[in-house]
Amino acid sequence: MPEAIRFGVSMDPDLLEKFDTLLEQKGYSNRSEALRDLIREALVEDQWEAGQEVVGTITLVYDHHTRELTDQLTEIQHDHDAEVLSTLHVHLDRHHCLETVVVKGDAAVVQSIADKLIGIRGVLHGRLVATTSGLG
Ligand code: NI
Repeated sequence: MPEAIRFGVSMDPDLLEKFDTLLEQKGYSNRSEALRDLIREALVEDQWEAGQEVVGTITLVYDHHTRELTDQLTEIQHDHDAEVLSTLHVHLDRHHCLETVVVKGDAAVVQSIADKLIGIRGVLHGRLVATTSGLG
């Protein structure tokens, strides 16, 4: 890794105070680390908007007794075998399952897989966490 570059940032004192409060709440030990995370977050968002190759996890919670739900889940994942890298399934209790699907591909395709899975009838909660390996 190249040597870090130091640079100065001018900021309104009120804004800086709010930033420092936020850092404390989030447990950051210094402003630099928090700024780096914010910049990475913006870069991830930019790569998604640019439609580049991205990676993500789709987390689903569902009642496995819902008719046709598990068939649909399997079907959609097989339809996207090029993008679906891995699936983790946990039996939460007698009725509920948690499934995490790791996906990689064009941002639009990954988003559409997430929308399809989360939209299945019987899925109680679903979320796509988008990230990228392209942060240097
Ligand atoms: Ni299960």
